Amino acid sequence: MNGMISPSMMCADLSCLKEQIDELERAGIEYLHCDVMDGIFVPNYSLGTDYISALRQMTDIPLDLHLMVEKPDAAVDIFDIKQNDIVCVHQEACVHTQRVLQKIRARGAKAGLALNPGTSLAVLDYLMEEIDVLLIMTVNPGFAGQSMVPSGLRKIAAAKKMIWEAGREILIEVDGNVSFENARKMRKAGADLFVTGSSSIFSKSSSISDNIKHFRSAIV
Ligand code: DX5
Ligand code: ZN
Repeated sequence: MNGMISPSMMCADLSCLKEQIDELERAGIEYLHCDVMDGIFVPNYSLGTDYISALRQMTDIPLDLHLMVEKPDAAVDIFDIKQNDIVCVHQEACVHTQRVLQKIRARGAKAGLALNPGTSLAVLDYLMEEIDVLLIMTVNPGFAGQSMVPSGLRKIAAAKKMIWEAGREILIEVDGNVSFENARKMRKAGADLFVTGSSSIFSKSSSISDNIKHFRSAIV
């Protein structure tokens, strides 16, 4: 299976959002990554329920909701989640992780568990059956334009090995400084789904469609 692309919509240009979404659609990207931030779990605010509703009006591309919020259990009840979406909650914000993941699946979406760079993969020991996506943060969440943390690549490789040994089908998603060059290394380490922001797809160095063509060649 080829790598898949999930552009980070917090990096899109709001002044021409519809045009950019049309360009993403023409390029056949698989998901739209929506970073939902509450200013508490991470020191930033972004992409609330109104933004998500507006996206639903503009496109049928499935959403990849990344809930960087203090109360993910409540957020799952509030957001407009649809079949084929991915919804990722942070292990670090969950008290009853298994229950939240079950709730996401009950809404017909893929359940994802997001891990900050410093969080051990050991948290997966009793959650492997509950997740469809493992979101490995390769930067500390909250802001675009950061550099990948040094342990990122070996964490991806360790997760790939862990999932393979468990005989599970879990997509490894990577989020943070997914540049063209880092994407190659992340793909080699085992990543399947790439959150692409200012480091690649929305880089001003070229058009979105040319950036996507360039990126696709990096993740075959
Ligand atoms: C970080 C964000 C990402 C990403 C943005 O919390 O979730 O969307 O870093 O892309 P880059 O890192 O390429 O600017
Ligand atoms: Zn994200």
